[in-house]
Amino acid sequence: MTQNSTSGAAKDAADQNFDYMFKLLIIGNSSVGKTSFLFRYADDSFTSAFVSTVGIDFKVKTVFRHDKRVKLQIWDTAGQERYRTITTAYYRGAMGFILMYDITNEESFNAVQDWCTQIKMYSWDNAQVVLVGNKCDLEHDRAVTLERGQRLADQLGLEFFETSAKENVNVKIVFERLVDIILEKMSDTPEDASGIGQGANAYGNPGGGYNKGSTKLTANDSQTKRDSCQC
Ligand code: GTP
Ligand code: MG
Repeated sequence: MTQNSTSGAAKDAADQNFDYMFKLLIIGNSSVGKTSFLFRYADDSFTSAFVSTVGIDFKVKTVFRHDKRVKLQIWDTAGQERYRTITTAYYRGAMGFILMYDITNEESFNAVQDWCTQIKMYSWDNAQVVLVGNKCDLEHDRAVTLERGQRLADQLGLEFFETSAKENVNVKIVFERLVDIILEKMSDTPEDASGIGQGANAYGNPGGGYNKGSTKLTANDSQTKRDSCQC
């Protein structure tokens, strides 16, 4: 587990000038492109070499949405089953998930429901989820149609995007939409019920998200109705 140390990201990580901090996680089967997606977003870089993630890592990026400065702590998880115990420990405290499959890989698409179940088991009730079908540049290798992706997203009650980390298609939009969904959720749910706005170390979790200025620590309200992931 290593903290990103590139100068821009390090500067971003140290920057205390923000209104909110959101902890986001990228999850999905191994090789769907989670790390590539994060590198494209945070560093605008892409490599075709596949270096499977060991455990979990994160990058920090600050965005402006609706006059708010939102600092994103984006956790890139290993898709390999053997790291599942480590990675699911980081679900708690995450306000948003990017659940990713690879449009050229049927198995990764079939696993989406299981990933959704993992979110339901290990995350806050109000965590928001966006479904992403990555590698849409590989049209000739496509195994999952856009319609099937959209249908599954509708069934699960999730917003859906096809993306390409390689060609930089919809990458920024996915993050911005997820931030907007979380902000919308915050504005229509009282803090006590939302589970959002909890202290950074509420659960001793290094990645806990928080609403700056709020020290209120609320228990995970199991009565709160989940209205994002319907799985
Ligand atoms: P784990 O760390 O094992 O969970 O995998 P991962 O989901 O992080 O996958 P990673 O980002 O390492 O990408 C796997 C492979 O897919 C690499 O060879 C990438 O270059 C490639 N890849 C990722 N995104 C894209 C994409 O949008 N288009 C294409 N053509 N290849 C991609
Ligand atoms: Mg990876």
